[in-house]
Amino acid sequence: MRTLLTSALPYANGPLHLGHLAGAYLPADIFARYQRLMGKEVLWVCGSDEHGAAITLRAKKEGINPKEIIDKYHELNKRTFEELGISFDYYHRTSAALHHATSQEFFLHLHERGDQFEVKSQEQYYDEEFKQFLADRYIKGTCPKCGHTEAYGDQCENCGSDLSPTELINPVSTLSGKTPVLKETRHWYFKLDQHQDWLKEWIETGKVDGAQQHDPKAWKKHVVGQCLSWLNDGLRPRSITRDLDWGIQVPLEGAEGKVLYVWFDAPIGYISSTKQWCEENGGDWRDWWQSEDSRLIHFIGKDNIVFHCIIFPAMLKAHGDYSLPENVPANQFLNFEGDKFSKSRGWGIQLHEYVEEFKALPNYKDALRWALLRNLPEQQDADFTWDGFVEYHDKDLADKLGNFINRVTVLTHKYFAGRVPDVGVELPAEARAQVQAIGNFIEEYRFKDAASAFVELATFGNTYLQEAAPWTLAKADPNDPKIAECLFVCVQIAAALALTATPFIPFVADKLREVLKQSPATHGDWQLALDALAAGQPLLPAGHEIGTAGVLFPKIIDRKDDSRLAIVQKQRDKLTAILEQDASTPEGESAASREPFKPEITFDDFTKLDLRTATILTAEKIKKSNKLLHLTIDLGSEQRSVVSGIAKHFSPEEVIGQPVVVVTNLAPRKMAGAMSEAMILMAEDEAGKLTFVAPPGGFGNGWTVR
Ligand code: MF3
Ligand code: ZN
Repeated sequence: MRTLLTSALPYANGPLHLGHLAGAYLPADIFARYQRLMGKEVLWVCGSDEHGAAITLRAKKEGINPKEIIDKYHELNKRTFEELGISFDYYHRTSAALHHATSQEFFLHLHERGDQFEVKSQEQYYDEEFKQFLADRYIKGTCPKCGHTEAYGDQCENCGSDLSPTELINPVSTLSGKTPVLKETRHWYFKLDQHQDWLKEWIETGKVDGAQQHDPKAWKKHVVGQCLSWLNDGLRPRSITRDLDWGIQVPLEGAEGKVLYVWFDAPIGYISSTKQWCEENGGDWRDWWQSEDSRLIHFIGKDNIVFHCIIFPAMLKAHGDYSLPENVPANQFLNFEGDKFSKSRGWGIQLHEYVEEFKALPNYKDALRWALLRNLPEQQDADFTWDGFVEYHDKDLADKLGNFINRVTVLTHKYFAGRVPDVGVELPAEARAQVQAIGNFIEEYRFKDAASAFVELATFGNTYLQEAAPWTLAKADPNDPKIAECLFVCVQIAAALALTATPFIPFVADKLREVLKQSPATHGDWQLALDALAAGQPLLPAGHEIGTAGVLFPKIIDRKDDSRLAIVQKQRDKLTAILEQDASTPEGESAASREPFKPEITFDDFTKLDLRTATILTAEKIKKSNKLLHLTIDLGSEQRSVVSGIAKHFSPEEVIGQPVVVVTNLAPRKMAGAMSEAMILMAEDEAGKLTFVAPPGGFGNGWTVR
């Protein structure tokens, strides 16, 4: 049985951060390394995702060719992965000719089936200056639901509503800053709705066309949950083409200027990456993709679930020749010191920055892998902290692992001249079980549990050594056979640790094996070790000479040397500076984001607004939101319910009795569970601070403002 592993192709328009590593790459690396050590035939493919509107438009804005962007980040990301020991078999890129050809072929195959696509015309916003249809994200305007002026064409980040670009009031192209025009265009849609029924059965039962394809219980609950929620909502046709000049040409006549949607071509990137690997290393790519004898596993973050569990499987099934994924062990999100990673805010640390800034910390690569592994967002979101980083390093790697290996080598040299003593004992059952458990957990995508089992094996070794206390035995009788027995067992545990460390902390593992005078672990070694243990044979034979370890993991917290802690402290200082910065600019908005004046309107436009004076009667917080207050206002002739986005600026207590001016004739809408029947006018200063626009007093409720 072959195992084909994929990790989400990262966009080549920016660097990667710790959260990416923890999501789709570190878990896959552990899985791939373990499978190789078990002697399995594994191929792990990845590469850069180099198309899409984000890359295209960024290049347009910067006035450069997209190629400059993707070349830069493809190289950077590829190199950074290598530096951190991410052992892809192939890191391809979607701008490669082979990938273009593969995607076009795939598209044509579905097109020729005749029943998978439909072509639809629609009106879409177009930027006349940039001669470019605008993706939803590239249109900004005023949210029709809450009045937020910076809403995107697909979503308002203030009130969370899903929007379509034509709903925005005063839409503006983020490319030219001008008002876009509506223009007719034609697109190809993949009829995803046709795949609804078999997908639902497949996700729920693991069966496809009556045959058991996978065990649905082996899938993570949150993955199945998200799929079912999509399926229960009902699948709809999805447009798979775009009007862009960067991407893969739609290979049909009459489709000039159109490219495949990036989410259509990117997963096909897994296929072309496999093809390229086969071209360079031999073999037939179909043996990986189109064979009963191969299983496919996608490693991704949770934001990619629908693409890998619904859309791509539907594409593969519609094509007809391909196997479906056996599992999609998606991870949840990793936060950083209590907040989301944010590039613009500088919150978090990029992988290449880590590699650069932690060079002086011994074992820094594995220190990062280990800290992420101990705290993987496997079942729920997790939070990376520098405190945790230090603690996992010092407690697990230094105190437990390093200390054990060091003591065992010192004692073996002291009592047996550095040679494995010759005694006929077996590894204790607990230790054998622990080695087995580590592998089983990895096989089940429970990487955190696998790491815990690894730590338990080291703890077992320490306790065993402490209780056997060969130094005490030696004082009473230097020839006590129990001394040899104890060190024999300890050396075997050390060897088991050096082997099982490989998937998690590969650089350290090589070091440990060097200490034990073993070559680095290679293909099949884990399986050989399991066989040896099962047959009651040692991992390191009697008479084998071992080296000495010394301090393998100098602790980060060290009273005599604060140089390592200083490296971490620098990171903490950066965060403190950001927090201070945030505190001086409310909501992080800067004067630079002030809007330009809006386009001219007629007097008639103006008189459409019904503005009135009112007074706030009641106010309370809305639980689900930290931005919204639920208010009642007195309009003289009536009272109305209002939901207002001012909670970050005012407490409920301080707004009660506040005179206000409101817009009364916006269509009422429900927000965060409450009705909003009017909108309160606020003035915003350069720093983003809000002030009520209020008559100076002595007015009645319900007066008109004009
Ligand atoms: N580039 C996408 C992202 O970063 C992931 C693409 S995964 C693939 O979210 F399947 F499309 F390749
Ligand atoms: Zn809104």
